[in-house]
Amino acid sequence: MKILVTGASGLLGAEIEGLAGTRGHSVVPLTRAELDVTDKRSVAAAIKGAGLEAVVHCAAYTAVDKAESEPELARLVNCDGTKNVASICGSEGVDFVYISTDYVFDGAKRAPYLPGDLANPLSVYGKTKLEGEKVTWEIANPALVVRLSWLYGDQKGFVPAILRQALAGETPLRVVSDQVGQPTWVRNAASTVIDLLEVGARGTLHVGDKGECSWADLAQEVLRLDGKEIHIEGVSSEEFGGAALRPSYSVLDLTETEEVLGRPMPSWQDALRSFMHCKNEYW
Ligand SMILES: NC(=O)c1ccc[n+]([C@@H]2O[C@H](COP(=O)([O-])OP(=O)(O)OC[C@H]3O[C@@H](n4cnc5c(N)ncnc54)[C@H](OP(=O)(O)O)[C@@H]3O)[C@@H](O)[C@H]2O)c1
Repeated sequence: MKILVTGASGLLGAEIEGLAGTRGHSVVPLTRAELDVTDKRSVAAAIKGAGLEAVVHCAAYTAVDKAESEPELARLVNCDGTKNVASICGSEGVDFVYISTDYVFDGAKRAPYLPGDLANPLSVYGKTKLEGEKVTWEIANPALVVRLSWLYGDQKGFVPAILRQALAGETPLRVVSDQVGQPTWVRNAASTVIDLLEVGARGTLHVGDKGECSWADLAQEVLRLDGKEIHIEGVSSEEFGGAALRPSYSVLDLTETEEVLGRPMPSWQDALRSFMHCKNEYW
C-alpha cells in the first residue's frame, strides 16, 4: 500500500514509518515542517493525485497539561487539522486512519472501556481529540479510528524518565498511584495499526498492550526489569499536580480488535520486558 503518515517525527509516526517500510509498504512520511495539517492548501497538495491508499493521521497537539492554557491551538491542530486531512481523504477516496486516545473517557466506569462506551473527556486535550473523532465520522466515513493509551518507546516520556531518576539516585521515587491505565510499547501499537490497515478494518477500535496498572506499578516494573531495588512512593494525582485532569481509570477493552485480527494482544508486562531488552535501539 502507499501510505502517507502525518506527524512522522513523533513517537507513533516515526514507528509507523519504519515498520510499514519494513513490511513492504511505500511510505510517505511527512513531519510538521513538511506538512502542517492546519494548512488546508498544503494538505490538499500532499494528498491529491499522490496515488495514496491510506493516510495514517499521527499529527496531533499532545501536550496534555499545556493544552489547558492553549485550548485554541489544541483545537486548531486536533480538530481543524484533522478536518483538513479527513476531508481531502474523503474526496480523494483515500482510507483515513485517525489516531485517538484513552483520555476521551472520564474513568468513572472502573472497567475496561468498549469502543462504543460514552466518551466524556476531562481535559482540553481529551476534548479536542474527541472532536477530531467526531469530524472524522462527519467527513471521512468510512474510516478507522484507533484509540491508544499510555505509549512509551522513545527518549522522552515516562519510562526513560524513571530510569534517569533512578540513575540520579533519587529515592524514594514519587509516582502517581491513583491513575490506572494500559502501558503500551509504541512498536506494538504501530504494528497493530498497520495490521488493521492491511485487513481493511473500519470503525472505532482500541489498541494497546493487555492488562492494567498504575503509573507507580509501571515504574516499579521498569526498575525491577532494570535490576534496581528502589522504593516507589505512590502519590495522588492531586499531590503530583499538573494542569489537566486525567481519568483515574482509562483501560481500553481490546476484545473487538483481537477478534478483527484473530490474535491476542500481548500483555503489558511481556511487552515491557521486550522493550527493556532492546531499549538501546531507542536511546
Ligand atoms: N503518547 C501517548 O501516550 C498517546 C496515548 C494515546 C493516544 N496518543 C495519540 O497518538 C497520536 C500520536 O501521538 P505521539 O505520542 O506520537 O505524539 P508526539 O510524539 O507528540 O507526535 C505528534 C506529532 O505531531 C506533530 N504535529 C503537531 N502539530 C502539527 C501540525 N500542526 N501539523 C503537522 N504535525 C504536527 C508533532 O510535530 P512537532 O514535534 O514538530 O511538534 C509531532 O511530530 C496522537 O494522536 C495522540 O493523541 C498518544
